[in-house]
Amino acid sequence: MPATCVIGLQWGDEAKGKLVDLLAPRNDIVVRYQGGANAGHTVVCGKEVYKLHHVPSGILSEGIMNVIAPGVVIEPNMLIREIEGLEARGVNPRKNLMISERAHVVMPWHFVEDKATNKAVVSGESIGTTNRGIGPCYRDKVGRTHAFRLADLLSDQMETKVRETVAAKRAMLEPIADPADLETLVADKIIEQCKAWNAILGPLSADTTNYLLDAVDEGKKLLMEGAQGSLLDIDHGTYPFVTSSNASGVGVSSGSGVPARWITNVIGVAKAYSTRVGGGPFPTELLDATGQKIRDLGREYGTTTGRPRRCGWFDAVAVRYTARLSGVHYLSLMMMDVLSHFDEIQVCVAYDVDGERVTKFPCSAEVLRRCKPIYETLPGWNTDVSGVRKLEEFPANARKYIDRISELISVPVGVLSVGPDREQTIFLI
Ligand code: GDP
Ligand code: IMO
Ligand code: MG
Repeated sequence: MPATCVIGLQWGDEAKGKLVDLLAPRNDIVVRYQGGANAGHTVVCGKEVYKLHHVPSGILSEGIMNVIAPGVVIEPNMLIREIEGLEARGVNPRKNLMISERAHVVMPWHFVEDKATNKAVVSGESIGTTNRGIGPCYRDKVGRTHAFRLADLLSDQMETKVRETVAAKRAMLEPIADPADLETLVADKIIEQCKAWNAILGPLSADTTNYLLDAVDEGKKLLMEGAQGSLLDIDHGTYPFVTSSNASGVGVSSGSGVPARWITNVIGVAKAYSTRVGGGPFPTELLDATGQKIRDLGREYGTTTGRPRRCGWFDAVAVRYTARLSGVHYLSLMMMDVLSHFDEIQVCVAYDVDGERVTKFPCSAEVLRRCKPIYETLPGWNTDVSGVRKLEEFPANARKYIDRISELISVPVGVLSVGPDREQTIFLI
């Protein structure tokens, strides 16, 4: 099995980091292939909690190579802080981290642009980005004229390119940006910053595409770590309330450079309920005490921005769609412990759209906004399951809940999680 993928099936934060950390020792190489510092992947090892933004979650396992592939956008200041933060805790990413020379770089003007455009209202609501410069960086990547890849930072042409781009960006951003933010875009200062970045990131940069292609030829096992979730996919998610990359399973090959023929195993990660950060339609959102109870029990506050996450019941219409889209073989159902104390639990099995029962996830955010969830009510288990270590130890109602979700999305359950720790995981595969 050359490549296993871990893909979020909801709106991100499904606990992909926890699962990747656990699966890493079964593999040779862990690959982040899209997204950037908008991701916040938490790995809990006993008392140690690691919050990773760019660095793949295999970094805590000995002897595993970690690759940041071409589809990722890197923000050098945060990446360097991440590397140094790991070093301060006794982890040495410099010996087992490679960054693609093709990866694009989030430059200082991308933050100015993200801040300026994040205020804009699209379809009646703000996207509510993470303000990490993600959209503007991908926009320049696609536009090509003002883009910086890691290789451009390292090239002799860097100074000239920075000067030209600063002039162009100041002119472009002038009508929309905060003047104080524009003042920070000074070419000489940015050139010095680039030199400092190069000193640290230069030795880690490599042609990761050929490295991964050689690895699959040699029969090495790859673990592809998705960021965000399939509903935030730029092409297949709840557009425009999405991120700027292919966050569903369809993005693995384009972002990593590893052809689809090597992808043999896809694990879809979902919470036993739903959360969303930022704007956009969310049919099962609970704006009441039950939503707050889930937020409190699940400690649902963003890993990257600290924003409270919007919470709601499990949406089987949405997850059935994303499981099919991402080609999921097994479901990893997380946060079962958070639902420990409910008399009844609801699962959305269809939507009511203008009086019509719909079971296909709609294309348009406008239609999704009009979707009213049709719920099936299941009995709760009112028992703390955080100590469960085997499938048989779950209370009968929890087993019923797991089986029903698996049935609704037509995917077998491969992993169950009952808490943040590594031990609080039940592997059925
Ligand atoms: P990711 O972005 O998909 O990697 O997920 P995040 O790290 O942003 O959010 C998941 C949060 O849930 C983290 O704080 C994890 O430590 C925590 N977590 C993971 N699995 C479980 C679980 O089964 N139960 C509970 N209560 N928390 C979990
Ligand atoms: P992980 O990998 C949850 C959301 C933002 C916003 C939208 C666009 O930790 O699951 P962006 O900054 O990407 O332009 O923001 O996407 N978003 C995430 N939500 N988890 C994430 O990553 C996210 N990355 C982006 O809140 O709604
Ligand atoms: Mg996260």
